[in-house]
Amino acid sequence: MATASAPVKEHAPAIPHAARIDHVSKSFPGTAGRQLVLDDITLDVAPGEFVTLLGASGCGKSTLLNLVAGLDEPSAGSIATDGRPALMFQDHALFPWLTAGQNVELALKLRGVAKAERRPEAERLLELVRLRDAHGKRVHELSGGMRQRVALARALAQDSRLLLMDEPFAALDAITRDVLHDELTRIWRETGLSVLFVTHNVREAVRLAQRVVLLSSRPGRIARQWTVDIPQPRRLEDSEVAELSREITEELRGEIRRHGQH
Ligand SMILES: Nc1ncnc2c1ncn2[C@@H]1O[C@H](COP(=O)(O)OP(=O)(O)OP(=O)(O)O)[C@@H](O)[C@H]1O
Ligand SMILES: [Mg+2]
Repeated sequence: MATASAPVKEHAPAIPHAARIDHVSKSFPGTAGRQLVLDDITLDVAPGEFVTLLGASGCGKSTLLNLVAGLDEPSAGSIATDGRPALMFQDHALFPWLTAGQNVELALKLRGVAKAERRPEAERLLELVRLRDAHGKRVHELSGGMRQRVALARALAQDSRLLLMDEPFAALDAITRDVLHDELTRIWRETGLSVLFVTHNVREAVRLAQRVVLLSSRPGRIARQWTVDIPQPRRLEDSEVAELSREITEELRGEIRRHGQH
């Protein structure tokens, strides 16, 4: 017998985590033998979780993100993700000869979306990042913030369960960054995506995340983690955000002092 209840749309993950990083180490060949960059990193990202990875410059954040993205192989340990993750960098990496809409449509094409569906879907995604009117604009006609919005729409076009972001807002001015924090929080909540977000900005990490993971330097190890239960939407200037940021900054300073960086 038919029931009146609406069908429940549920994503059945292939693995019970969006990402599972299991005892991962990474070393690169250097002038004085192999340089250990990441040392025994174990970290799970739960489905729908927003995790920020925080650490000093050169501590191995991008290296770890690239490993999760499958762009490089760990030297030891293993990484499993729920499907292929989407990636977004500081540099928007959009194709300048295409319009905003065409950049998004290309990602849809690569995903195998039928031609007739690409345009309406690209419009929906641009609407989601509040760029509905930019569909026909070329990259050079867009501001830095708008370009990152298009890059986000393009990443969302991959329909991944996990979004990997490597300092995506670092090149933006403070106000634009603040607006994009709000947008990212809204989109994360609307889509139920898992996000692994790399930054060296403590306040940004606290503003966005449910969990902040601090990496030490040389080699990168997980130094400490914080669960952030401050209700969203948060503001950078909220006293709770400021207070936790101070605590984390102290810890980060200690890490940097220990490793003789400035
Ligand atoms: N392909 C590579 N070959 C050799 N060394 C590398 C390679 N990729 C990264 N490294 C080294 O690994 C270390 C960590 O680099 P990584 O880019 O991951 O740091 P990061 O934390 O992202 O820094 P930043 O905050 O400046 O972006 C650095 O010492 C870097 O020189
Ligand atoms: Mg980096």
